[in-house]
Amino acid sequence: MVGSINVDQTVRVQRLPSPGETLLGSSITIGPGGKGANQALAAARLGATVSLIGAVGDDASAAAATELLQSAGVDLSAVTSVAGPTGLALIYLADDAENTIVVVPGANAAMDASMVETSAARIAEAAVVVLQGEIPADGIATAVRLSTGRMVLNLAPVVALDHSLIRAANPLVVNEHEAALVLSQLDAEAAVPAEDEALVVALRAQGVPGVVLTRGAQGAICSDQAGTFSVPAPRVNAIDSSGAGDAFVGALSARLAMGETLLEASHYAARVGAFAVQSHGTQASYPHSGDALPEA
Ligand code: RIB
Ligand code: NA
Repeated sequence: MVGSINVDQTVRVQRLPSPGETLLGSSITIGPGGKGANQALAAARLGATVSLIGAVGDDASAAAATELLQSAGVDLSAVTSVAGPTGLALIYLADDAENTIVVVPGANAAMDASMVETSAARIAEAAVVVLQGEIPADGIATAVRLSTGRMVLNLAPVVALDHSLIRAANPLVVNEHEAALVLSQLDAEAAVPAEDEALVVALRAQGVPGVVLTRGAQGAICSDQAGTFSVPAPRVNAIDSSGAGDAFVGALSARLAMGETLLEASHYAARVGAFAVQSHGTQASYPHSGDALPEA
């Protein structure tokens, strides 16, 4: 796992604020987050052997950000401490379980090409390398170039990358909004289909060998050389959807590393994502192997 490590400050609100509006929040919780750290934790809890390559600051948040990873047995020896603050995410969580997130990268900004290069051997050794869009683009590019295994690219948020790097993703994991942005990045002239399956097919047609489009409560669409499939999500009572996408990507990556097909791994990941929305927090809500997952 090469990616971001944050502390999440989550404020509960009845609904998301509009521009210029002042709202009262009902509570604030502080916990570990960051897409890289979240995905690492999800994969480790489900039985994968995970090494996290990332950066934290030299502040008090660093320990809080890595605590659960440590207890889950994630190898943190390639997490570097740099001067300045640990990454911070400000999350508004509304009563309908929707959220907005603003991330201040802090130490994650240090994850550039030269920093990632220091973990070259570890990256080259990995059966699966997982990346997101919360570290600098040249750090992502370096990790892709160093990887010899399968590359899972969760372009959240979407950053500009060399097209050949996106075409090395197997799979590219994106939501609907991100899928449209990546398609336009690969081909500025491409018509962006409004329908999810057509969007996936269009990304495949651009030369991306595997694509998983995550659709929240509607599950996912996955596509690779085996075909294009709709993957259902179990129906659950949604409490907090923040970090559910990361639970999905971590679980998907763990199962791919264990030899499952993209379709099998996507089915499992949708169940793990549904498990995570049922309770508060990002990492705190992820299942351990042995927890009963909801059925689709
Ligand atoms: O995907 C959820 C994550 O996005 C949060 O944990 C937050 O830290 C941001 O990185
Ligand atoms: Na949750």
